[in-house]
This record gives sequence, C-alpha cells and structure tokens, in this order.
Amino acid sequence: HFENGFQDGYMRVGPKGYFFTNGLKEDIVNIYNMPLRPDDIFVVTFPKAGTTWTQELVWMVANDFDYKTSSSIPLVVRFPFLEMPMLLNSEKGKKVMRENLKGDEEKLKIFESISSPGSEMVANLPSPRFIKSHLPLSLLPPSLLDTTKVVYVARDPRDVAVSYFHHNKFFSFMGYTGDLKQYWEKFIKDMVDWTPFFPHVIEAWEKRNHPNLLFLFYEDMLKDLPSTVRKVADFLGKSVTDEQVTRLCDHLSFQNFKKNPMLNYETLREIAMMDKDRTFLRKGKAGDWRDNFDEEMTAQAQKWIEDNLRGTDLRFPTIN
Ligand code: A3P
Repeated sequence: HFENGFQDGYMRVGPKGYFFTNGLKEDIVNIYNMPLRPDDIFVVTFPKAGTTWTQELVWMVANDFDYKTSSSIPLVVRFPFLEMPMLLNSEKGKKVMRENLKGDEEKLKIFESISSPGSEMVANLPSPRFIKSHLPLSLLPPSLLDTTKVVYVARDPRDVAVSYFHHNKFFSFMGYTGDLKQYWEKFIKDMVDWTPFFPHVIEAWEKRNHPNLLFLFYEDMLKDLPSTVRKVADFLGKSVTDEQVTRLCDHLSFQNFKKNPMLNYETLREIAMMDKDRTFLRKGKAGDWRDNFDEEMTAQAQKWIEDNLRGTDLRFPTIN
C-alpha cells in the first residue's frame, strides 16, 4: 500500500470488501455491536466529502448555537471520530508515534487517549453523543437508523480523490510518497482506506428517504449553505431564525473555518505529524479535479463513474 507507511497491513471487510488497516481488526466487530442511544447524532461520510464542515454545522444547530463552547473545545473532542484509532492502532504505528513524542508527557497522554479503541471511547461519552464515522452504513450497527439520527454527506468522487491525495500528504504519518496519478490508480482499484467509494455512497443513497437519514451533497452546501442549515435544523427538530442562519453561515465560511484553530486540525499538528507546508482546509471548491486530472485520468473517471452509476438514480450535482 503506502511505501513508507505506518500500517502493519490491510484487510477487506464484509461482502463489499471495504479496505481497512489491520489496526481495526478487533474494534470493527465491537463497533458493529456497539450500544446506541436514541439521542446520538452521527455524521457519516466517505472521507473528504466535507465531513468536518458538516460536523460543525450539525453540532452548532444541535447545541443551539453555542459559540462559546465551539470556540473553546476542538471539534475533534466535541465530535470524535469513531474509528480514528484504526489509523494509529497498528504496532508499527504506535512505535513510530511513541518514538516521535518521546519526552513530551502531555502529548503522549493525548496520543494514548485517542488511540484507545473507538468503541470504548464512545461508550464513555456523555449524552447526547456526536459521532463522526467514515464507515459505510453496512458496517455500523444494524439498528443505527431506527435508533439515532444520521447525516450522510456525499461529494463528486473526482474531487474526493484530489482532496484525499492531499490529505495523505498533509497527515505525513500516512507516509504516502506517490503522485496524484498513482494515488488515483489506487483509489479506483479500491486500495485506499474506506474504499470502494461507490458502494459506500449508494448504501446511504438507498436509505435517503428514511426519516432518520439526511442525505446531503457537498456541492449543494457550497451552492446554498443557508438552506442546508435549515434542512439540518428541520431534521433535528430545531427552529432557527434568519439571524441565526446568517451568523452560522459566516462562522462556517471557508475563510473563517480555515483560520479557526478549533476546527482546522491545527491542534493535532504535532501529534499527527502534519506536513509543514500544507493545511487541512485546502481549496473548498467543486470541480477542482479539472485542474488536476490529465486526459487519461479524465477519461478513466468518466467511464468509472458511468459504470458505477448504471442501475442507480444517484447523480452528483453538476457544477458550472
Ligand atoms: P478540499 O481538499 O477539496 O479543499 P473532510 O472534512 O471530509 O476531510 O473534507 C475536507 C474537504 O472539505 C476539503 O476539501 C476542505 O477544504 C473542505 N472544507 C472544509 N471546511 C470547509 C468549508 N468551511 N467550506 C468549504 N469547504 C470546506
């Protein structure tokens, strides 16, 4: 997989063959069987679909626009990542990390806490729990939609691939050394964490009319954030005023989000060994793939998308 990677090896899970590091081997079963609470709120996405943006939106609406807490507690703590430890749980990964943080007791403590199994971490959270996951619905507890509310976000896979490539460079512990074209090859061959992409999205798309699932597109959020805020508020049974919507959209704007240390992952910079020349918020655009794909990738993508959308009515919003 990744040349200088951090992982011990990979496995495929379930009939659709979702691709994960072996670090998740034990917890994936515990997650599937984890007890849910009726007031849980999940944000579920394929990576790079606009997860972080949606998490903050959902958290703010659910918490009656609590700007005070939002500005003092990082989103990664308010809205933890269920299977995050899978990234850190391999023996090789832990060794690298402990070596890297040697002598810094404070950071080591944070590392040990975020590398405990996700099912245990969320079991200890107070209610209401806000949980982020990139797991497809079929690998989350089967009673999920009948018990809790889930917001699922989807994004054009070409932009996802470009964003994911940068993500793997940004989180330098991932050890990815290839270029975008090589990354794209891995992406469409389902050799990147949480792939295959299409089954992941289609599983949620098929449930889009379930009253406990809100299915959003990143492209629609970019086009019209205020109506997304209203949709989320309706979904969560909250009423919102025009002023609240306007203020929240300003808080969630790309520029404000990018400089907000509670939202932009800068609090994890040293723990996750981030590349010093990159930031988590990169472009925040739809259609950025056009500036990054060569002709061959463009043709490959078109065929790959057509092949995978055949037989479904899922269509990603077109952008100009
Ligand atoms: P790009 O890399 O294309 O810029 P995730 O949170 O699922 O990892 O998604 C990250 C993507 O969402 C990144 O895309 C990031 O820039 C974009 N994003 C994050 N916050 C945003 C915001 N406030 N407005 C628009 N896009 C945002």
